Amino acid sequence: MDLTVLKESRPGENRVALSPAVVQSLVKAGHKIQVEKDAGLGSAFTNEAYQAAGAEVTDGTGLYEADLFLMVNPPEAAQAERFKKGSALMSFIYAAQNQELMDVLKGNDMTAFAMEEVPRISRAQSMDALSSQANLAGYKAVILGAEHLSRIFPLMMTAAGTVTPAKILIFGAGVAGLQAIATAKRLGAVVEVSDVRPETKEQVESLGGKFIEVKADNAVQVEGGYAKEVSAEFLQKQKEAVEKSLFQADLVITTALVRGGKAPVLITPEQVEKMKYGSVIVDMAVEQGGNCGLSEAGQVVEKHGVKIIGATNLPSTLATNASELYAKNIQNLFSHLADEKGFKYDMEDEITTGCMVNRGSNTSTNQPQS
Ligand code: NAI
Repeated sequence: MDLTVLKESRPGENRVALSPAVVQSLVKAGHKIQVEKDAGLGSAFTNEAYQAAGAEVTDGTGLYEADLFLMVNPPEAAQAERFKKGSALMSFIYAAQNQELMDVLKGNDMTAFAMEEVPRISRAQSMDALSSQANLAGYKAVILGAEHLSRIFPLMMTAAGTVTPAKILIFGAGVAGLQAIATAKRLGAVVEVSDVRPETKEQVESLGGKFIEVKADNAVQVEGGYAKEVSAEFLQKQKEAVEKSLFQADLVITTALVRGGKAPVLITPEQVEKMKYGSVIVDMAVEQGGNCGLSEAGQVVEKHGVKIIGATNLPSTLATNASELYAKNIQNLFSHLADEKGFKYDMEDEITTGCMVNRGSNTSTNQPQS
C-alpha cells in the first residue's frame, strides 16, 4: 500500500506518526512510504534517517495520493480536503469535537481510524496510543514538578542535617498516575494517591504508594476501563479524605479524567489557599477543564504561593520516545486491520469496529454500508 506520513501542524507539536525504525519494517513488508519533509525533526528523526529506512522524503503534491494517511493529531479540515478520495486515515480524531473534519472525511469517502477509540482490551494493548502517551506524560509530570519545586525528593542525611523526603499527592491512578507514582518513588518521595476506582488500591500499593480510602456507599461505575462520573456526594467525601494530605503536600499531580465528560474539579481555589507556600500542582487534566479550579492551559500561574502548572501535551516534550511508541501502536493497528493486499475490514472484529469512526464505501463488497 501507499502510505503518507504528514508533518504535524498543531502549534508546539513535536511528534510524528512513524519513526524511521517502523518505516523500515513497513517498507520491508512491501509498503511504499512517503514522509513529508522535516516531519520528524521535532522528534530528532532526520530526513536522511527516513531515506535510509526506505521512505521517500518530499514536500510535493504526491504526498496526497496515498492509500493511507498517518498523523498524530487530527488533520485540519482544509488539509483533509486534499486527501485522495476513498483513502484511509489513522490518527487521533476526536470525532465529537471535530465535526468539520468528519464532514470532510465523509464527503471524501474516507475510512477513518481513531487512535483514541482503540478498545481497552488485552489483545489491543499494543495498539493503545492513549496508554503509550499517558505513560510518558506521567513520567514527565513528575520531572516538571521537580523542576518547579524548591526542594529535593529523597531523604538525604548530610553532616549539615537531615533533609526529609518530599510529600507527593497524586489524583488518579490510571496509566499516567501509575507511572507518576513509580517515577516519584524512584526519586525517593513519599507518595499518596486518590482514585475513585477501588481496584487501583492494590496497584498503588504495589508501587509503594499509600492509597487514600474514601468511605462512600455508592460504588464507582467503570465502562471499558474508564471511570464514569461519580456523584457529588462521593466527591465531597473524597475531598474530606484527601484534605490533610493536600495541605501537607509539596507536589500534587492530577490526572483524573472521566470518559466523555469534563474533568472533575478536585482542588478548589479555597483549598489552594490552604496549601503549603511553595508547593506545586501539575494539572494534567487541564485540557479537559482541569482538576484544579485555578489552572490555565499551557501556563504556570502562582496563587497564594502555590505554582499551578497547566500541563498540555506533555508527550510532545518527550517527542522521540513518544513518536517511537506511537509509531509502534500505528504499526500494530495497521497490521491488525490490513494484510499485504490492503485493509481487511472485518466488521465482526471489535477492534476494527471500535476505532472506525467513518466508513468509506470501499470497505466491503458484501457488508451493508453505514
Ligand atoms: P483516564 O485517563 O480516563 O483517567 C485517569 C484516572 O483518573 C483513572 O484511574 C480514573 O479512575 C481516575 N479518576 C476519575 N475520576 C476521579 C476522581 N474524582 N478522583 C480521583 N481519580 C479519578 O484513565 P486511563 O489512565 O486512560 O485508564 C484507566 C484504566 O483503564 C487503567 O488503569 C486500566 O485499568 C484500563 N486500561 C486498560 C487497557 C487495556 O486493557 N488495553 C489499556 C489502558 C487502560
